[in-house]
Amino acid sequence: MNLKTTFDGFTLKNPLMPASGPLVGDDEKLLFMQEAGCGAVVTKTISTKRPKIPKPCIYGSNQYVQNSELWSEYPLEKWETEFLASHQKVKDRPLIISVGYSKEDMETLIPRLDAFADAFEVSTHYVGTDLSIIGETVKTIRRLTKKPIYMKISPHIPDPEGFAKVIKEKGANGIVAINSLGPTIQINKERRAIEYGAQDGFAWTTGPVIKNLALAIVYKIKQAEPDLTVIGVGGVASAEDIIEFLLAGASAVQMLSTALIKGKQMYEKIIHDLEKALKHYGFESIEDVKATPLENKVSYEWELPKLKEDLCIECMLCEKVCPYFAIEFKDKITFNPDKCTSCGLCVSKCPTDAITMDKLGG
Ligand SMILES: Cc1cc2nc3c(=O)[nH]c(=O)nc-3n(C[C@H](O)[C@H](O)[C@H](O)COP(=O)(O)O)c2cc1C
Repeated sequence: MNLKTTFDGFTLKNPLMPASGPLVGDDEKLLFMQEAGCGAVVTKTISTKRPKIPKPCIYGSNQYVQNSELWSEYPLEKWETEFLASHQKVKDRPLIISVGYSKEDMETLIPRLDAFADAFEVSTHYVGTDLSIIGETVKTIRRLTKKPIYMKISPHIPDPEGFAKVIKEKGANGIVAINSLGPTIQINKERRAIEYGAQDGFAWTTGPVIKNLALAIVYKIKQAEPDLTVIGVGGVASAEDIIEFLLAGASAVQMLSTALIKGKQMYEKIIHDLEKALKHYGFESIEDVKATPLENKVSYEWELPKLKEDLCIECMLCEKVCPYFAIEFKDKITFNPDKCTSCGLCVSKCPTDAITMDKLGG
């Protein structure tokens, strides 16, 4: 099975990369990602000023992570002379260097990091939502490097299509979508306190809870600007999730929070699972998924759900969750056509796939 993905002159041996964050914060960790089998490696965001990072700064639950980790605590000099110099000796796949934030920062960062980078990823997380400022930043970077430029979009940018248009016009190759969602808050009830977050008490949310938002932004960008490369990130937790991002329009994907929630072995596991997942969904390769168009089958026709009696375990979950009180047990699960609005919730909630609708694949 061919797991390779090709874009902007790169051929990655598989589409999974680490996302910028603590797990790529120095040369030891960049090497870990390479040895875990990632198709490309990305660094923690490097900037010109030292960040003031609150401690603690990473909270993990089962479905999300909240952080206020900002960018790398290590100065540019240390990255140049130690981490990147050392990584260069062992590096055997593309290295994307993450940089932030202003066009003035880029004047310093790009010339000093260019020799180490196969591409640049540019965080726009702390620069506001003014697209003309983001455009000027791209223009500055384009003047300073010939390497591919991927602008990272944050979910608080209100107009992803406008962002895509501007960065394309100014010479970027693509977009990494998305950065963390927020501002959000973590409240400790016992102590009546906010303990995680920046000075203002707010932190940024990531992990599986943001996956559908990330997918929507990837899809919007790719629909608006099909020539831009999109690298999807946000909530990836399995090989199946990678397939969803590729179908939405991504050429590769990144992951961080799942490794913070379940452990760093998840990179290797997901890459290992990818072949089986592709086969399961009837794809021949990663490029096959990328070339498959997503059909919009949204419909307004009413249809009564049907029960596959042999699969029903009579757990009654459908009856409990039905928002229209349309499901009853009369010897078997029955759907009341006078009450059912064809909302589809029972189909998606049934644990044994015993409830079907023709418009959802029968
Ligand atoms: C602890 C932590 C630190 C992060 N640091 C950075 C960073 O330095 N630069 C950046 O662009 N994104 C950073 N991110 C955002 C991630 O790169 C990624 O966009 C986001 O976590 C969504 O992916 P995920 O759901 O797989 O974690 C950070 C996220 C977390 C959780």
